[in-house]
Amino acid sequence: MSVLFPKSFNAFPTIAAVVAVGGLSTAVAGFWYYATPKFWQVGYMPTQPSTGFSHQIHAGKLGMDCRYCHTKVEQSPEANIPNVATCYGCHAETRLAAWQTQRVGFVREAYAKNESIEWRRVHKLPDYVRNFPHHIHVAAGVSCYSCHGQITAMPIVYEAHSLSMSWCLDCHRNPEASLVPKDKVTQLVWVENHLKARAAGGTGANAEQIKISLERQPPQGCGACHY
Ligand code: HEC
Ligand code: HEC
Ligand code: HEC
Ligand code: HEC
Ligand code: HEC
Repeated sequence: MSVLFPKSFNAFPTIAAVVAVGGLSTAVAGFWYYATPKFWQVGYMPTQPSTGFSHQIHAGKLGMDCRYCHTKVEQSPEANIPNVATCYGCHAETRLAAWQTQRVGFVREAYAKNESIEWRRVHKLPDYVRNFPHHIHVAAGVSCYSCHGQITAMPIVYEAHSLSMSWCLDCHRNPEASLVPKDKVTQLVWVENHLKARAAGGTGANAEQIKISLERQPPQGCGACHY
C-alpha cells in the first residue's frame, strides 16, 4: 500500500502524474471492492483448545455483559480476550454440579500453572489494514451485534460477517441504519430486535437523536484504513 499511496501523493509535480496514479488506484480499488469474495470467511469457526467455554452460557443464559471480560473494548482499539484470572474469579471454587466442575477443570489447571489459555483467533484483518478501532465504533453507537452477530446465542464463536472492504464501506456510507443508543451497544438481544424492527419500517427508538449524535461521518478515504 505504501507504494500506491505515498505520503507525498498530493505533492506530485504534474497533474498528469496525479491523474495516472489516481486512475490506477481507482482501478485497484474497484477491482478489490468487487472482487473481494464477500462471504468467503463467513462462518469461520476454529476449534477452540478446550471445548466448553460458551458465550451462549456466559453472555446469554447468565447475562454477563461483554465488558466484564472484554474490558478494554471501550477504551482501546483492541477488544482484549480475558485472562485466566477473570475466569478463575468465578471458577476457583464453585457450587456447580460435579459434571460442570469437571468441565471447568482446564481453567483451574491453567491458573495453577500460571499459564494462559491459547484461544484461537476468530476475527483477523490482514496486516495492511490499520489497527481496527473498536473504541471509536462502540462510542459512536455501533453494537457488537452489527459486526459479530448474535454472540449471546453462540456456543462457539464464528464469523458472522465477511470483514471484507466492501462490508466496511457499506456501513461507512450509510451508518445511521446501524446506530443504536450508546448504552445499548452490548445488549445484543435488544439490538437485534431493534434493528430488525427498524429495517422492517417499525418504530425503532429515537432514530433522529441517534443520527444527531454522530458527529463525524465514517471515513471512506483509503488512508483511513490502509498504510
Ligand atoms: C465470561 C467472559 C466473556 C464474556 C462475558 C464475553 N466474552 Fe467474548 N470471549 C471470551 C473468551 C474467553 C473468548 C476467546 C474464546 C472464544 O473465541 O470463544 C472470547 C471471544 C470473543 C470473540 C471472538 C474473538 C476472536 O477471536 O475473533 C468475540 C467476537 C466476542 N468474544 C464477543 C463477545 C460479545 C459481543 C460479548 C457480549 C455479548 C462477549 N464476547 C462476552 C470471553 C467472554
Ligand atoms: C461471573 C462468573 C463467571 C465467570 C467470570 C466465568 N464463568 Fe464460566 N460459568 C459460570 C457459571 C455460573 C457456570 C454454570 C452455568 C450454567 O450451566 O448454568 C459456568 C460454566 C462454565 C463452563 C461449563 C459449561 C457447561 O457446559 O456447563 C465452562 C467450561 C466455563 N464456565 C468456562 C469459563 C471460562 C473459560 C471463563 C473465563 C473466560 C469463565 N467460565 C468465566 C460463571 C462464570
Ligand atoms: C464495526 C465493527 C465492530 C464492532 C462494532 C465490534 N467489533 Fe469486535 N472486531 C471487529 C473486527 C474487524 C475485528 C478484527 C480486528 C483485527 O483483526 O484487528 C474484531 C475483533 C474482536 C475481538 C478479538 C480481539 C483479539 O485481540 O483477539 C473481540 C474479543 C471482539 N472483537 C469483541 C467485540 C465486542 C465485545 C464488541 C462490542 C462491545 C465488538 N467487538 C464490536 C469488528 C467489530
Ligand atoms: C456497522 C457499521 C460499521 C462497520 C461495519 C464498520 N464501521 Fe468503521 N465506522 C463506523 C462509524 C459509525 C464510524 C464513525 C465513528 C465516529 O467517528 O464517531 C466509523 C469510523 C471508522 C474509522 C475512523 C476512526 C477515527 O479515528 O475516526 C475507521 C478507521 C474505521 N471506521 C474502520 C473500519 C474498518 C476497517 C471496518 C471493516 C473491517 C469498519 N470500520 C466497519 C461504522 C462502521
Ligand atoms: C473503511 C475501511 C477501508 C477503506 C476506507 C478502504 N479500505 Fe481497502 N480494505 C479494507 C479491508 C478491511 C480490507 C481487507 C479485506 C479482506 O480481507 O478481504 C481491504 C483490502 C484492500 C485491498 C486488497 C489488498 C489485497 O492484497 O488483498 C486493496 C488493494 C485495497 N483495500 C485498496 C483500497 C483503496 C485503493 C482504498 C481507497 C479508495 C481503500 N482500500 C479504502 C478496508 C478499507
